[in-house]
Amino acid sequence: MKDPLLHIQMVIVSMAVICSSESITNLHPVILIPGSGGNQLEARLTSKYKPSSLLCNRWFSPRKDNEGWFRLWFDPSVLLGPFTKCFSERMMIYYDSDKDDYDNAPGVETRVPHFGSTQALRFLDPHLKYITTYMEPLVKSLEEIGYVDGINLFGAPYDFRYGLAAEGHPSHVASKFLTQLKNLIETASNSNEGKPIILLSHSLGGLFVLQLLIRNPISWRQKYIKHFIALSTPWGGTVEEMLTFASGNALGVPLVNPLLVREEQRSCSSNLWLMPSPQVFNTTKPLVITPNASYSANDIAQFLEDIGFPQGVKPYKSRILPLVEKLVAPEVPITCIIGTGVKTPETLLYGECGFDKRPEVVYDNGDGTVNMVSLLAVENAWANDKSQSLKVIKLPGVSHTSILKDDLALDLIIGEICSINSQFSSY
Ligand SMILES: *[C@@H]1O[C@H](CO)[C@@H](O)[C@H](O)[C@H]1NC(C)=O
Ligand SMILES: *[C@@H]1O[C@H](CO)[C@@H](O)[C@H](O)[C@H]1NC(C)=O
Repeated sequence: MKDPLLHIQMVIVSMAVICSSESITNLHPVILIPGSGGNQLEARLTSKYKPSSLLCNRWFSPRKDNEGWFRLWFDPSVLLGPFTKCFSERMMIYYDSDKDDYDNAPGVETRVPHFGSTQALRFLDPHLKYITTYMEPLVKSLEEIGYVDGINLFGAPYDFRYGLAAEGHPSHVASKFLTQLKNLIETASNSNEGKPIILLSHSLGGLFVLQLLIRNPISWRQKYIKHFIALSTPWGGTVEEMLTFASGNALGVPLVNPLLVREEQRSCSSNLWLMPSPQVFNTTKPLVITPNASYSANDIAQFLEDIGFPQGVKPYKSRILPLVEKLVAPEVPITCIIGTGVKTPETLLYGECGFDKRPEVVYDNGDGTVNMVSLLAVENAWANDKSQSLKVIKLPGVSHTSILKDDLALDLIIGEICSINSQFSSY
């Protein structure tokens, strides 16, 4: 019997040979686009800030620079109960239905440091490297084959609390990010003899990249994009997101009470974007079951109402549903690399005690966070599309985030980059 892992390893070995025979100066620039929570975020509190308690007063904020900026994400003080609440109220964003757009909490200014560099995505807190490592192992692997930060390797961090909205709806923060990313792509290409770019995203970053591509003309994509490598992309959302909205998600941090961060998590428009899409999930299959009702991907609006978040209904219906209506093929070559065979929430069973109580979770296949049907959604959607080149690589036993540090996964990602670099440009 053929061992699939052995086969993958042999492919990697042959790719490494191809890569080392390439001159370093021939590398196509790579831009990294992180997932939700995958880069640092800074905040500054102004006199308009109204803390809910003395503890959250702006004078008690963490280490600040002389202009008052401090790291909002990630700061380990969120792990301590009383400070979790301060963190949560500073992270909240608010939907203004007159403007049809989202804003920060009053008196909270935010900014994304180090745009253009990989610096803000390597670690979420540079003082706590070990526990907040994010893209560091991937960046290191890229450096080993000749990539250099700021020369042919770039990072596109963003304010991951804000998602995009369907055409015709403003989304000032996320739209500004798309413009910045577009400019970065053009600058990086121009400073590398006009070579087109390899975009390398993780998780939510992939949804932003797809939107960037389809919102720009095909001539632009052909000029500037060599390849799009999408790691662990939740193309059709996740069932886990319904758990986050209903009961909060402590993100695996044992000391955090999920109910303390639930309100903040519900407020983020990027989270609403990650609800299971009715285009991708089987709409006759219940994803959440309670003694009173059951909810499929077709019932997300009702679900938001019933969990006690009716504010989410209007933006969900008007801004998200039309955004996820169709997975448009961008017609640039794409490689999806995904983990599989990790138990992933598939159905949530709530009892009589309501949504504040953790549900019983039924698991199925996925990467631990994203369901199989969502990871494979573009393969299904573009199966008959001859103009879309798509390759899907599955990594058994690799989880949603371990794809960024697992040795075999990293070798495979680097192998893919080497192979792309050794292809003659088709443009
Ligand atoms: C969709 O889900 C229903 C209910 O679980 C199931 O009977 C049906 O076979 C599923 N359809 C597909 C295409 O998987
Ligand atoms: C079901 O309905 C009852 C009565 O309206 C309510 O108290 C309970 O919280 C509901 N349970 C869930 C899980 O929605």
